[in-house]
Amino acid sequence: MSHDVKPEVRHLVDFTREAAGFILTEMRAAVAARGFCRLALSGGNTPRKINAELVAQAAGFGWNHVQITFGDERCVPPEHADSNYRMARETLLEPAGIPDGNVFRIKGEIEPDAAAREYEARLHAVAARLGEPRYVHDVLLLGLGEDGHTASLFPGSPALAEMERNVIPAIGPKPPPQRITMTFPLLNAARHVIFLANGAAKRPLIEQILAGTGDYPAARVQPDAGRVTWLVGD
Ligand code: 6PG
Repeated sequence: MSHDVKPEVRHLVDFTREAAGFILTEMRAAVAARGFCRLALSGGNTPRKINAELVAQAAGFGWNHVQITFGDERCVPPEHADSNYRMARETLLEPAGIPDGNVFRIKGEIEPDAAAREYEARLHAVAARLGEPRYVHDVLLLGLGEDGHTASLFPGSPALAEMERNVIPAIGPKPPPQRITMTFPLLNAARHVIFLANGAAKRPLIEQILAGTGDYPAARVQPDAGRVTWLVGD
């Protein structure tokens, strides 16, 4: 994990409510410290309820101080049922009234490498203004697949070896196969990575990852200077 900071593990009883509360606390801390929170959303199903709970708990929170990115996206149009953006729009972006200008959508509808390069350029424009070599997320949410993937970094994928680009196309066994994903260099530039891992089926995998056994993609998320928190539920 992080060079000098072991990941924190929080076993949550009311996973949705407690996870949303933890994320919101971290977002508030980022806004208090820097006036702004750069938040990466995770795809998949776990975030659906958490996103909705975030909206409920964040009444009065200044969402206009949040810049939203996506850890990965499926190569489908934004209105497609498999779109991570659509899921976020329905569960968080629209209900919270987050301004479109605060949302950096990955264009799943265009040619994947062009979409990845465009997204990378958009993130770099912000990073350059802030004097960062890479875009630094304040809070970066990630899920965990039962094969140990995270974002769209799947076991055995060439994407795991990317150490220069921040965003690249990737192919995965989880449908739909063609995706665009943040890479380890970008994930590891984050101040705080929060894994959202709910369900007993993932517990043995989490234990292996935390024990440092098993070379799973999720285990390679080791922020250069940031920290990792695992929010674990049954
Ligand atoms: C995706 C996600 C993916 C997801 C895990 C866990 O686009 O599919 O980024 O990495 O987080 O597969 O998915 P669940 O939350 O549905 O278990």
